[in-house]
Amino acid sequence: MAQLWGGRFTKETDQLVYNFNASISFDKKFYKQDMQGSMAHVKMLAKQGILSPKERDMILDGIQGILEDVESGKLKITDEYEDIHSFVEANLIERIGAPGKKLHTGRSRNDQVALDMKLYTRDEVCETDCLVRELLLVLQRLMEENTQTVMPGFTHLQKAQPITLAHHLGAYFEMFKRDRDRLSDLYDRMNYCPLGAGALAGTTYPLDREYTAELLGFQGATLNSMDSVSDRDYLIEFLSALSTIMMHLSRFSEEVIIWNTNEYQFVEIDDAYSTGSSIMPQKKNPDIAELVRGKTGRVYGALISLLTTMKGLPLAYNKDMQEDKEMTFDAIDTVKGCLALFTGMLDTMKFNQAAMEASARHGFTNATDAADYLVNHGMPFRDAHGVIGRLVLYCIEQKKAIEELTLEELKKISPVFEEDIYEAVKLETCVNKRLTLGGPGREAMEKVIAQNKRWLAEHGKIGRE
Ligand code: ARG
Repeated sequence: MAQLWGGRFTKETDQLVYNFNASISFDKKFYKQDMQGSMAHVKMLAKQGILSPKERDMILDGIQGILEDVESGKLKITDEYEDIHSFVEANLIERIGAPGKKLHTGRSRNDQVALDMKLYTRDEVCETDCLVRELLLVLQRLMEENTQTVMPGFTHLQKAQPITLAHHLGAYFEMFKRDRDRLSDLYDRMNYCPLGAGALAGTTYPLDREYTAELLGFQGATLNSMDSVSDRDYLIEFLSALSTIMMHLSRFSEEVIIWNTNEYQFVEIDDAYSTGSSIMPQKKNPDIAELVRGKTGRVYGALISLLTTMKGLPLAYNKDMQEDKEMTFDAIDTVKGCLALFTGMLDTMKFNQAAMEASARHGFTNATDAADYLVNHGMPFRDAHGVIGRLVLYCIEQKKAIEELTLEELKKISPVFEEDIYEAVKLETCVNKRLTLGGPGREAMEKVIAQNKRWLAEHGKIGRE
């Protein structure tokens, strides 16, 4: 048991208590950020004359050595330490002796852990954003290639009106674009440094908190020491943004699963992204899409868990907050994994354009356009709706599509129909006449694709770069 306290205790900690309290098994994940924060703290202490330049250099060299040894595997982060902070301090003292004991001057583990978690998640916000950006690039390519790939658009999972694959994928493009905006917003809001808040009430040492913040790439320092050590809003915001990304990925996965069924055959998932069955030799299953859909629950779980942990906590730090880590780490790793896999699956997936078009052709997706034809010839829309309803019923009886009826048959239903009805209900016409901004028509779609392309070019990496 290696702990940083014990002076006022007369008995050893019970082993079970020690184990229950310790966090090293998971906070070792931010060993790098912990050392990065300590180095900035030490530089600031020396600038303020609290440490001598010699002490500063010895501590900086010592921490650098620990960092290198951990990275090379020479030094293992083991469970004998209570947490990552104790691990670094104990190793530092072992290496450089007395100056190492000055590392924690003007600092508490409360502001230290608040900083570490912020540094760690700040990097992860950027990494997540990069992965969403990769997904958007694949979507952009597919949209450019498919502005003329007609498919049925659905409401209630019933064929509704013809759209294009570019338009369908474009809906996901908008969702993931908003996800990137959310990440960028929360990055800006969280980017303030809590170090120097001490345990809760600041410190009597003349710290330069703005300087520490600057060294660590923050926008500035946080403005209330009690809030600094007990704010976990940024994690809740991040988990909420991650949950929304998963909700989007899950909806998309569900569509891929449906499109990949024998009944639809709109897509074929690449062999590299499919799995087989141990008993049924013919099977090629969409396990990746199913797993992405399935993993959404654990990310939501992390959000609800942290909201619940925080809801009853009085100011300032409480040990409950240690519970902010494991599920957050798991959620971040889960989302990053899902994004990378989903992007790979989408990038290699084959779209069966013929099957999509055939599906749009059967199912009366051009019925609204047939009604609009009558409206354009002077009939009120409500009447036209009724006429086309009867027409569809007739087509169902005859097992024919609207465009397969003869003009004679059409005229029997309404004398308004003329030869140009065939042009009006062609799928290509139905799609390409939908030119309202945001609609599937080729010209409208191409404008949106160009606009989104510019957006992607303007929105590179978020953060400091
Ligand atoms: N492991 C703790 C956490 O994750 C670090 C802060 C400990 N502070 C304390 N007063 N015990 O929250």
